[in-house]
Amino acid sequence: MQARNIQSKPNYGIDAPGLVRFFFIGGAVALAIVFVTLFSSVLEPIPKIAVSTLLGIAATYLLGMGCFMLYGSRVMKLKDREKLLDLVQWSGNELVLDVGCGRGLMLVGAAKRLASGRAIGIDLWQQHDQADNSAAAAISNAAIEGVATRVEVETADMRQLPFPDNHFDVVVSSWAVHNLEAEADREKALDEMIRVLKCNGTIVLADIIHQVEYARYFQHHGMTDVRLHNNPSRDFVLKAISFGSFAPSAVSARKSR
Ligand SMILES: C[S@@+](CC[C@H](N)C(=O)[O-])C[C@H]1O[C@@H](n2cnc3c(N)ncnc32)[C@H](O)[C@@H]1O
Repeated sequence: MQARNIQSKPNYGIDAPGLVRFFFIGGAVALAIVFVTLFSSVLEPIPKIAVSTLLGIAATYLLGMGCFMLYGSRVMKLKDREKLLDLVQWSGNELVLDVGCGRGLMLVGAAKRLASGRAIGIDLWQQHDQADNSAAAAISNAAIEGVATRVEVETADMRQLPFPDNHFDVVVSSWAVHNLEAEADREKALDEMIRVLKCNGTIVLADIIHQVEYARYFQHHGMTDVRLHNNPSRDFVLKAISFGSFAPSAVSARKSR
């Protein structure tokens, strides 16, 4: 009998698993209360309809947000990965850094575009930011996608990268920098990305919020060709339904000196 790799598809995980759980549990509880209210005789008909309608709206919103977050992690990010990597003019021998690589989505995507180059990912493996992220998970995804020999991972904080100045040809990052809550910390991370990037190197920084802040920071800190890759009408809708917390897009920039 032949041995088969039972995990033949990479698993790039679910972001913010605690929030996803909150949306699904909150939605299910609200829905359960709607049914209890509808079938109980405690309330008069008019208050009963009012309470059920409000809770029904809350349940729909919470369950919808839970599904949308799953869609973001499982589908949207994978589609966006190739578009983001297309922003780099690859020669195939680049040294690439993925900042906050998690289970290796961008890291592995970049490695697939390399012939003789290497891709290094750093992360602190914070479980509340991505379910089951680990160095082993990133390496396992690299193996499944056939690029394990071109990939390395290290445990490091994006505010203090353990690499020399002017070291990488390309720095990528996806949905990671916003996890630093203080603007000063996010600036430290951006400073580090600029520091380790070689002259003429490219940064592609995708995130769910703060993209304008990143673009301005790059512009004021020696980066050129700073471009915001967003869709204003989609951003408007996503920000409206997520109360300003979720509108994924990216910034790209080049280091000129
Ligand atoms: C939402 S996940 C995204 C992971 C991956 N880039 C992707 O797109 O699938 C954010 C990642 O950032 C990492 N992270 C958060 N703060 C960090 C820090 N200060 N330094 C390095 N990594 C960090 C988390 O551990 C997590 O793996």
